[in-house]
Amino acid sequence: MLTLERARALNDTMITQEHLKIHALNVSYAMGAMARHFGEDVEHWEAIGLLHDYDYEKYPDEHLRHTEAPLLAAGVDPDEVRAILSHGYGICTDVEPVTNLEKSLFTVDELTGIIQACARMRPKGITDLEVKSFMKKFKDKKFAAKCDRALVLKGCAMAVRFTAPGKIQQAAASTGGLIHFLKSIKTANTPGIDAAQHQIVSLPHLHLI
Ligand SMILES: [Fe+2]
Repeated sequence: MLTLERARALNDTMITQEHLKIHALNVSYAMGAMARHFGEDVEHWEAIGLLHDYDYEKYPDEHLRHTEAPLLAAGVDPDEVRAILSHGYGICTDVEPVTNLEKSLFTVDELTGIIQACARMRPKGITDLEVKSFMKKFKDKKFAAKCDRALVLKGCAMAVRFTAPGKIQQAAASTGGLIHFLKSIKTANTPGIDAAQHQIVSLPHLHLI
């Protein structure tokens, strides 16, 4: 099973640009929050989140076409590689997100961009960002215009088919799922993060996201 340490080592061979490293961390944290949401293995989901854009810096125009072979050769599990490939579904791959992990990755990849843009504008970053004010920015198409809202909503629509039982399924079946996610990411990962990550999340303009 992919560990955070292994994901970090693999990523470090490919990703050098600071903004891409931060994006990888943001998606990693978001995946941790989603793992908690679904009662799954937090570190495993974080590791996959961290590694999800493995080939993007070197091959921005051929994103996810240089992922499968090297990661399989590096011993990453085929299911984990599949999950990574599925976050480009309909964009640069035809691997449809099927599991909760895959649907979460598809959704939070773009969502974290908007959250980060929100957090950057606030002195305390994400720490005092309320869901209500986030949703306002989410609806304002001029704000962080490059972040594709349709992709996030497509991910949320996939959540309707999330397989988790009971309450979680209900929560995920609507924008409530998104809100639950935002709430969980706000509180996630303060304890237990390592020093390097903590440094990045503590940057005044970034905080958690
Ligand atoms: Fe990404």
